[in-house]
Amino acid sequence: MAADIKHMLDLDLLSKPQITSVLDSALMYKDILNSDMKKQDELRGKIVVTLFYEASTRTRMSFEEAGKILGSDVINVSASGSSVEKGESLVNTAKTIEAMNVDAVVIRHPHSGAPYILADQFASASVVNAGDGTHAHPTQALLDLFTVLEHVDSIEGLKIAIVGDVIHSRVARSNIHGFLKLGAHVFLAGPATLLPKALPWLRYYESEGSLTMTTNVDEALKDADVVMTLRLQNERQISGYIPSEREYIANWQINSNRIDKNCPDAWIMHPGPMNEGIEISESIANGPKSLIQKQVENGVLIRMAVLSHVCGVKHNK
Ligand code: CP
Repeated sequence: MAADIKHMLDLDLLSKPQITSVLDSALMYKDILNSDMKKQDELRGKIVVTLFYEASTRTRMSFEEAGKILGSDVINVSASGSSVEKGESLVNTAKTIEAMNVDAVVIRHPHSGAPYILADQFASASVVNAGDGTHAHPTQALLDLFTVLEHVDSIEGLKIAIVGDVIHSRVARSNIHGFLKLGAHVFLAGPATLLPKALPWLRYYESEGSLTMTTNVDEALKDADVVMTLRLQNERQISGYIPSEREYIANWQINSNRIDKNCPDAWIMHPGPMNEGIEISESIANGPKSLIQKQVENGVLIRMAVLSHVCGVKHNK
């Protein structure tokens, strides 16, 4: 294993060699995932817990599949049905889990920063952030980088347009770190109310010229190599941020008109789940340049690579 990673909290904490090492491992696992014998013993004897306080289809299932393929035991815990329902705090839940000698905890939580609390609590178990509030979703960004790299020679110099509900998107935040670390220019586009204009670290990247924030969708899409559209996060009271869904579709939807006019060769991505017909049209989501299904498929490879990195080398604090 080339790079040793204790916790996977977000990409801003990883060096470029560490990111590349995870992507290289994922590539190595491709043959296993495509074979008839999807069972290895690399993580035999390890115990992985998935601890999900929010809904998930892709992330949770792919971590479970990844852990099982690599031979670990995987225990799934949901907030509903656990002692969280009886009022147990996150810290006490963390202590309880660690007392059972698990090797890695994959956590999704509605509050930004929750995985960092777990990482501070644990003496030896590793923590993997599977999405915390609006903050970060590092394994999604890694699988997005991996998916783009399957279709281009290098990310260096690419124009990446991330369009839509950026302000609520943990996927966008992690992807910004990832794409910038690998040398792309990132454009963030959306209605002014959905752009995180006040974030100092984004301001820094704007001032040094590697990131552009714009309310002009055509500027973001013009000659883009990759267009990533984001889900309107209705569960975060999005209706207060846009005049109406109809207006959003008219001005911001990624559809054939906008793509044909600005970037007909661009690869199209969406982290899912999609509101098809709202932030993305059905024809673009299912068109020849769509990488959306590939993103899901590659999610298993990346999660194999991440589990292997965090479980492969144990350190004690
Ligand atoms: N992209 C993503 O995190 O999807 P899920 O919510 O289905 O895990």
